[in-house]
Amino acid sequence: MIRSRFFFWSMNKRIVIAVDGHSACGKSTVSKDVAKELSLIYIDSGSMYRAVTLFCIRNDVNIEDHQQVAEALESINIQFSKTEKGQTILLNGEDVSDKIRTKEVNALVSQVAKISEVRSKLVEIQRSFAKTESIIMDGRDIGTVVFPDADVKFFLTAKLDIRTNRRYAEMQEKGIEGSLEFVQSNLQERDYIDSNRKDSPLKQADDALLIDNSELSQEDQLEYILNIIEKQIREDA
Ligand code: CDP
Repeated sequence: MIRSRFFFWSMNKRIVIAVDGHSACGKSTVSKDVAKELSLIYIDSGSMYRAVTLFCIRNDVNIEDHQQVAEALESINIQFSKTEKGQTILLNGEDVSDKIRTKEVNALVSQVAKISEVRSKLVEIQRSFAKTESIIMDGRDIGTVVFPDADVKFFLTAKLDIRTNRRYAEMQEKGIEGSLEFVQSNLQERDYIDSNRKDSPLKQADDALLIDNSELSQEDQLEYILNIIEKQIREDA
């Protein structure tokens, strides 16, 4: 593994890396690792949709009523913070990093993410992160809508049963309830809603590199992605 990648420092250029793909295919794990290797800011855009969903659940916002959701957005402030346990997401100042991973949020988040008012508010915040920093952001529409001019784009996927097992293991480790069957049907349902919504559907950008990581180790995937980024940035320099 090449540990020091000096080329970014010598280039004096802000870069944006977009990572999209299906639910639970390891986007956030690899994006965090890339961020660490290249000293980039990592933004988990999915956690922002999850935070809005948590707010709606807590405040009995009727998510079928888009006007009500739009009004609720005015009371929502989302920030990221760096702590000892890593990056945390703050909803109106409260650390909700764990609370946004529950079964209840999983069940509703794709319905909330369909709402255009929600998307436009969150996309604006997402774009603001790249104004001053080099970033890697993962999500569903990063390479297609949020940063269509991103320097490097990836589209990750993996077989459904592999994604199910990975997510189930992750939930067990964190003590989050949910059966294997629920996890699998939730991933399928979210992928369906995310891919078929009108506003910013999940799809591979024409210039994104597709990676099926079903058979790839985390280390091999990281090295592969780092090499692609390095090659692309050098070519564009
Ligand atoms: O971690 P996982 O793959 O399960 O999902 P996530 O990245 O936390 O995203 C949760 C949900 O937020 C997705 O299923 C989408 O409905 C929505 N989302 C979105 O619409 N656009 C994004 N850029 C990111 C997430």
